[in-house]
Amino acid sequence: MAVVVSANGNGPAFEAKMTVYVFVCVLIAAVGGLIFGYDIGISGGVTAMDDFLKKFFPTVWERKQHAHENNYCKYDNQHLQLFTSSLYLAALVASFLASAVCSKLGRKPTMQFASVFFLIGVGLAAGADNIVMLIIGRILLGFGVGFGNQAVPLFLSEIAPAQLRGGLNIVFQLMVTIGILIANLVNYFTATVHPNGWRFALGGAAIPAVILLLGSLIICETPTSLIERNKNEEGRETLRKIRGVEDINDEYESIVHACEIASQVKDPYRKLLKPASRPPLIIGMLLQLFQQFSGINAIMFYAPVLFQTVGFGSNAALLSAVITGSINVLSTFVGIYLVDRTGRRFLLLQSSVHMLISQLIIGIILAKDLGITGTLGKAQAMVVVVFVCAYVMGFAWSWGPLGWLIPSETFPLETRSAGFAVAVSCNMLFTFVIAQAFLSMLCGMRSGIFFFFSAWIIVMGLFALFFIPETKGVAIDDVRERVWKPHWFWKRYMLAEDDHQDVEKRTE
Ligand code: BGC
Repeated sequence: MAVVVSANGNGPAFEAKMTVYVFVCVLIAAVGGLIFGYDIGISGGVTAMDDFLKKFFPTVWERKQHAHENNYCKYDNQHLQLFTSSLYLAALVASFLASAVCSKLGRKPTMQFASVFFLIGVGLAAGADNIVMLIIGRILLGFGVGFGNQAVPLFLSEIAPAQLRGGLNIVFQLMVTIGILIANLVNYFTATVHPNGWRFALGGAAIPAVILLLGSLIICETPTSLIERNKNEEGRETLRKIRGVEDINDEYESIVHACEIASQVKDPYRKLLKPASRPPLIIGMLLQLFQQFSGINAIMFYAPVLFQTVGFGSNAALLSAVITGSINVLSTFVGIYLVDRTGRRFLLLQSSVHMLISQLIIGIILAKDLGITGTLGKAQAMVVVVFVCAYVMGFAWSWGPLGWLIPSETFPLETRSAGFAVAVSCNMLFTFVIAQAFLSMLCGMRSGIFFFFSAWIIVMGLFALFFIPETKGVAIDDVRERVWKPHWFWKRYMLAEDDHQDVEKRTE
């Protein structure tokens, strides 16, 4: 398939084919997203398995036996939460390390590191005989996530023909949702395997980790990374191979040019602290806060626990989680389809209203009908499941993928990788905070937790309304001129930068 593509919308048109090789590279790299999703999805199911609880968390298991005593507190245990959240804390630290490895050694070795971390982590977690082994395993998995989530989106953006970049970016989120769904299915089937079902569930991540490791031997390094590291000839050859056309000179020159500008910035993190970097930095960080404080992972990690709490049996709980998992995957396609048609803002605003209504209805039903003990009536429980699904749907076509897409398209090249690393680590930080706090919050606030998340959804909807500009169709290197400079609020940082440069010139 030959297409004429433009590097930056109105820039020079570059000819390229969507080659089979690029397609294979995208599929292999996106397996990194699959492992991330699998890790997110597996924890909730495993922590609901009796064999697992009896072995590592006997007090939680004891409490679960008397579940009728307190619906909201039966799983509350700091150690149990540490099992889930240790991964995200490790990923937070790892993403800064990964950003350095990504620039110094390239995207491909960063993904290879990720797969090795994943494999060792899976081995330790699935083979764990004590809680220390289990947590160390989770930490290594977290390193895998930190390295993978830094390298994969950058790799996808750099290897894709420019006009397919948005869609390919969301392939990462699509793989995340598929990983969550597979984990839900694995949980469902391994829950009935005694006493080692949980080992199979945790060990399942080895399959995509091996695919990523072997696959990463086939994929190429990106031309941008090669040229950035002065391997210009190799970069040119790779570009020719992935584009499938002879004449790649224009695109090659544009990458060389971008790398030259970027190389003048010695310390991208210092540059990130300058006023002009503030709009994409603040938005990139807040998107992660909002994404997590919308309550998505409270639902993702603990969907099985949640369904059990509202009165489904152990298997029905996992089955319900499979339903939310499928809705998550299918709705991501809606995001892929709409993001370049209706724009980013429409999706963010529509879903804020949609998610708010869903959370409020869930909260009201639980507040009214689920006491500290007892179960929900069948009808009310069904309504809760329906609105959990509606909520996941809204997230999947908006705050989910856009949390990754917007930070990847709003930084100028010289701060793009560093800015993205900050966004990734913020995502991990807030995921960690929610993972660590959710069960205690559920126990302390009971159904009030859904009103807590609702309040955040109102804040994020208002933030999107006033502060997130539309970037649909705007050339990636034109964002400063066309998005930030005319924006009613963010323009002040751009003007401050211009003034600053004037002053510097005058004093020279
Ligand atoms: C978020 C994850 C979340 C997932 C749900 C991702 O964009 O970063 O935290 O679990 O979406 O599909």
